[in-house]
Amino acid sequence: MEIPKLQIGSLTADIPIIQGGMGVRVSLSALASAVANEGGIGTISSIGLGDIEASKKEYERISREALMTEIHKAKSKTDGHLAINFMGVLSNVNDLIQTSIEEGIKMIVFGAGLPTKLPALVHDPSVNLVPIVSSARVAELILRVWNKRYERTADGLILEGPLAGGHLGFSEEQLEHPEEYSLEKLLPEVLEVIKTYEDKYGRKIPVITGGGIYDGKDIARMLSLGASGVQMGTRFVCTKECDVSNEFKQAYLDAKEEDIVIIKSPVGMPARAIQNRFLNDLEVKGKLKIKCPYRCLTVCKVDKARYCIALALINSYLGDVDHGLIFCGQNAYRIDKIITVKELIQELLSELKEA
Ligand SMILES: Cc1cc2nc3c(=O)[nH]c(=O)nc-3n(C[C@H](O)[C@H](O)[C@H](O)COP(=O)(O)O)c2cc1C
Repeated sequence: MEIPKLQIGSLTADIPIIQGGMGVRVSLSALASAVANEGGIGTISSIGLGDIEASKKEYERISREALMTEIHKAKSKTDGHLAINFMGVLSNVNDLIQTSIEEGIKMIVFGAGLPTKLPALVHDPSVNLVPIVSSARVAELILRVWNKRYERTADGLILEGPLAGGHLGFSEEQLEHPEEYSLEKLLPEVLEVIKTYEDKYGRKIPVITGGGIYDGKDIARMLSLGASGVQMGTRFVCTKECDVSNEFKQAYLDAKEEDIVIIKSPVGMPARAIQNRFLNDLEVKGKLKIKCPYRCLTVCKVDKARYCIALALINSYLGDVDHGLIFCGQNAYRIDKIITVKELIQELLSELKEA
């Protein structure tokens, strides 16, 4: 079998694999550029790059400059395809989108919030817009609004199922029955919804599936169901190039299936993480002190939040996992070694060919 390429608008990747954006600081330039060098699309996360103790103006300046630095570093290491991941709930999301466009980024991935106004921010048609959706209903809403308001459509959609890592676009009740919302069930519904817009705009809208994709067999299954590619996060955490601390990676290697849990995040969405000392302590303490001069998330109710999610994720990034939150996908417990991005992608592609 020949490995299919992945075309997203004006951009063609040699292999149908996107490394998903992982905040806070899990996917930065080292990981994204390594993936891009292997022919995939490497995603830098724009989330949590600021200094949470800084004032609003300072926070925004620091995160803007940090994003610029990561883009420069990635571009110095690769000529391959890079994307930037944004969350709609970030207070400075528009500023960061502007920064990435100015820095020549050609693919914007937007999740955690409806990107109904995104086309109004991006006037350059060579910048590809890729919303993350978790249902056909949301896909149809975004495409309908973009069509009516802006006479344009998405360059691709990432369909993220209930087994993914980090924040999830499903309710806690839905996550108790992940099989009812499996990618196998959701994908045909999304493919149906996009038909109207593919016909109207005369081009394919690639759907990329993510959440629980572990090996080449999973990729083959998704492609056979009509996906144009896959987005993977968890497997890329345990690579040498991943930007996060070794302690974070070790927590993946040590995790057993029963350690992987759904938590209620201060963002107001459920999220998947590893049950660790931080989460155990939180159960006893109930609530931790929060210093929040900026308000980095529009949705975080600081007075009610049990902890600062940015600080908890930064702690883990730095290696203080006992005081930190460790996001992961449902299949993290299956990983037993840290390898290079090259080795991982070669393994995935040879399994894909075999399948
Ligand atoms: C540690 C971690 C952090 C993540 N952070 C983000 C994020 O900030 N924004 C986002 O859109 N998705 C985020 N994700 C989701 C990934 O981009 C990816 O879509 C998902 O993890 C795919 O499922 P998999 O991990 O089972 O491969 C995160 C995932 C992980 C594991």
